[in-house]
Amino acid sequence: MRRAGPDDAARLAVLATQVWLHTYATDGIGDEIANHVLSALGVDRFAALLGDSCASVLAAERGHRLVGMAVARAKAPCPAGVPSTVELQTLYVQAHFIGRGIGKRLLQAIEAQALAEAGCAPWLTVNARNDRALAFYARQGYTQVGTDWFVLGATRHENLVLIGAGRGVR
Ligand SMILES: CC(C)(COP(=O)(O)OP(=O)(O)OC[C@H]1O[C@@H](n2cnc3c(N)ncnc32)[C@H](O)[C@@H]1OP(=O)(O)O)[C@@H](O)C(=O)NCCC(=O)NCCS
Repeated sequence: MRRAGPDDAARLAVLATQVWLHTYATDGIGDEIANHVLSALGVDRFAALLGDSCASVLAAERGHRLVGMAVARAKAPCPAGVPSTVELQTLYVQAHFIGRGIGKRLLQAIEAQALAEAGCAPWLTVNARNDRALAFYARQGYTQVGTDWFVLGATRHENLVLIGAGRGVR
């Protein structure tokens, strides 16, 4: 596991696209999904993220192949009013590698960084129907502190706002 650099942008974009589609496009590809993937998960977006001083991007590799990734953003107040300023924006493990401890290690690295740099646990949003992720976060000690909405074209999807254990700010 390592901090991602500019050369990783293409692989991050492709992995994010693969995991996002596998997780959420479970009923085929409509216009809303196609537009979202092409606009929000492209190489340009990840190149920009890698140059953003508020963003931390971690890459998990097996050999020299990308199998997982995490993106956290600093100075991002929690919408549920909990005193956390670090958002875990993305935590993706390729389907072939889930259940091997990669997600947990990525999460722990983001948690350690949030504690060291901002004195808080990270917060995140997760789709209310993403049972696998909800079970994973519950196992890691995360609890719900609110709800939020992810707007995809004309459709609103309910998200739960979660916060990690040790939520207090120093
Ligand atoms: C959610 C996700 C990141 C978890 O990563 P992972 O590498 O499969 O999880 P790990 O193997 O590290 O599991 C860590 C722990 O969570 C537990 N866990 C993982 N998935 C679980 C599940 N579905 N139900 C119950 N426990 C689960 C494991 O048993 C393990 O327990 P431990 O703490 O006793 O060791 C991964 O499944 C994924 O990328 N899913 C698709 C994308 C996604 O939904 N991302 C989150 C969006 S917010």
